[in-house]
Amino acid sequence: MKIIVINGPNLNMLGIREPEIYGSENYSALEGLIRETCDAEGIEVEIFQSNHEGAIVDAIQGAHGRVDGIVINPAAYTHTSIAILDALKAVGLPAVEVHISDPETREEFRRVSYAGLACIKTIVGLGIEGYRQAILFLKG
Ligand code: DQA
Repeated sequence: MKIIVINGPNLNMLGIREPEIYGSENYSALEGLIRETCDAEGIEVEIFQSNHEGAIVDAIQGAHGRVDGIVINPAAYTHTSIAILDALKAVGLPAVEVHISDPETREEFRRVSYAGLACIKTIVGLGIEGYRQAILFLKG
């Protein structure tokens, strides 16, 4: 099995950015957790992060025919990007949405998830551990 984990804007700032919301572990720690989980499960993984909406659309399109599933945290684009929703629908791969925080309990504008409409599961509020849960869910 091969998957891609896609992270959106500002997730490269983990550990620095609002640690009271996103925790003190940095982006390298997140990459480590993803690789460790995939190694343990015998899953091949690609990890991608971008601060640019179009680059995320390109990464989703590029997953077509190459991977068996997508774990995605579109970050702020969750709440705005129909382009990311359409890309997920276009490739038709099983996708799991992850959020480190629980957007439902935060500002009103975080309550809509466009990307989530194309995902088979959403995991929120577990910190970076949510990525492990998402990978295990995709494995089935
Ligand atoms: C986030 C939640 C989003 O609302 C926010 O814009 C982020 C991170 C999360 O992982 O909790 O950048 O996706």
